[in-house]
Amino acid sequence: MNDSKLRILITDNLSDAGLAILQESPELEIVMGSPENVREQLQEVDGVIIRSGTKLTAEVLAGQPRLKVIVRAGVGVDNVDLDAATREGIIVMNTPAGNTTSTAEHAFALMASLSRNIPQAAATMKAGGWDRSKYTGSQLAGKTLAVIGLGRIGLTLARRALAFEMKVIGYDPFLSEERAREFGIELYREVDDVIDKCDYLSVHTPLTEETRGLINAERMQRMRPGARIINCARGGIVDEADLIAAVRAGTIAGAALDVYPQEPPAKDDPIRGVDNIITTPHLGASTAEAQESVAVEAAEIISAFLVNNEVRHAINMAPISGPELQESRAYLDLGYRLGLLQTQLLKQRFQSAGIQEAKIAYRGEVSEKKTRLITSAYIAGLLSSGAEEPANIINAESIARERGIQITESSSREAGDFTSIVTTTLVTDNGEFSVSGTIFGDRFLRLVRLDGFHLDAYLDGQLLIFRHQDKPGLIGFIGTVCGNHGVNISHMSLGREDNGGEAIAVLNLDSVPSKEAAEEVLAHAAVTGVELVTLPPSGEPLPWLDSAK
Ligand code: NAD
Ligand code: MLT
Repeated sequence: MNDSKLRILITDNLSDAGLAILQESPELEIVMGSPENVREQLQEVDGVIIRSGTKLTAEVLAGQPRLKVIVRAGVGVDNVDLDAATREGIIVMNTPAGNTTSTAEHAFALMASLSRNIPQAAATMKAGGWDRSKYTGSQLAGKTLAVIGLGRIGLTLARRALAFEMKVIGYDPFLSEERAREFGIELYREVDDVIDKCDYLSVHTPLTEETRGLINAERMQRMRPGARIINCARGGIVDEADLIAAVRAGTIAGAALDVYPQEPPAKDDPIRGVDNIITTPHLGASTAEAQESVAVEAAEIISAFLVNNEVRHAINMAPISGPELQESRAYLDLGYRLGLLQTQLLKQRFQSAGIQEAKIAYRGEVSEKKTRLITSAYIAGLLSSGAEEPANIINAESIARERGIQITESSSREAGDFTSIVTTTLVTDNGEFSVSGTIFGDRFLRLVRLDGFHLDAYLDGQLLIFRHQDKPGLIGFIGTVCGNHGVNISHMSLGREDNGGEAIAVLNLDSVPSKEAAEEVLAHAAVTGVELVTLPPSGEPLPWLDSAK
């Protein structure tokens, strides 16, 4: 193993074209693994490519120090515990389009097989039979196909059915009527509206709590006599026990399944032995073309993420391209540092005050960037201390939610004193306070407001913040204290209400001042408070975008 390289584990079969892309990248090293003992195999890798054979449960994903990305070569991510991955700060991506055509073709092939009893007839021939009348079928042309779930595969199947002169009706809560019309599909607003109007019904939704058992005994009862059902999506969307009963009772003329609640089904599972139920072993995406396509896409997106920080097809994070990331990077850094600053101030000001709400307001040009990610970066900074698990832009929001912290984001394109300004306000059990930051040029991060005072302080390294009465000689005194303790002041910014009134100063120091130095500053009669904050050095890579998590 080469420790200078980013390591990618592959636990299921991946086509050679995908492997070749990974092998060609000098930054990457491939580790061939297996779906067994995957927890151990994940310990030493930066990313993993899986298909449906590998189960990434919460237990498998807990405490993986190096793992940053899971790529599912295929569509369904039901074999990945998404909440657990998000909590652990692991990004999950899939390759949504690579196997669409193959799966739609498989669904169509099953529909055609059902209409002409092809598998059963072929089996009789193999057994020496010749039964023409038993296998009289029905024509597809002129029949109605109902497609439940008009996404990529559903629409691709619909197009094929229309070419075969079928009428296509459908239900999808997220598809517009206009788009359905463009495809020539009659769209209904309730699943129950299509149930009794079709000769074939094919489901193409994801398996969710809402779609589990979507086609059940009650709905099967309402279907036309002679209707047939196809499930090439996920086992359980059509209730299997209800289907077996309905086919045996003749309520449903036939069914074709490619997917099962338990894969593979047990050898003696009744689903294997029902006449008029055709079964295939999850073959929807099993074509050379689809496998090559998803493998190539999986290899491309994992290397784009690990090598260039590009986020494509993410399931648990907003997508961001390499150029967009570069453009927003300084703001991600700004958000993160404002969070780090506030969490340290919070502890010094209120000791144990619980955070109720974190508000983040974007003004000016920054409001047109990926503010959701900047907010996540801010929350990651805010939760960086005291979090059991390291917070990053993937898991920050979910950790905040778990802790009952409300996150409120607001944006306005109207700029004030700055081209862009980001203001974060923490509402705690013991009070609230705000800080504002901006970027000068394209990378100089500045703290420009603290507790309502205007400032111009660097947002890096060691900060010493002191509140005081604006009095002559005080700045000289602070300089002398720092000098006596061997601490160099690199920059100083002063904010005050009026001449002689309440004021605040932020010193950027070259080293961490001793406790004694801070106490000496606080001992001055005009100083009312001293706070110390340590931020990363300027330009330090963001922890979650760097190679170490
Ligand atoms: P997709 O995301 O493009 O489409 C899913 C559609 O379902 C969306 O349009 C969505 O709006 C709709 N939907 C969601 N909830 C719904 C509900 N309650 N009722 C009706 N519609 C609903 O996904 P896709 O790429 O078309 O994949 C569809 C299914 O096929 C997924 O379950 C996927 O895992 C499965 N799949 C199976 C194979 C296979 O080998 N058999 C291959 C690829 C994909
Ligand atoms: C998918 O979700 O992509 C399919 O089920 C195919 C597969 O598992 O490879």
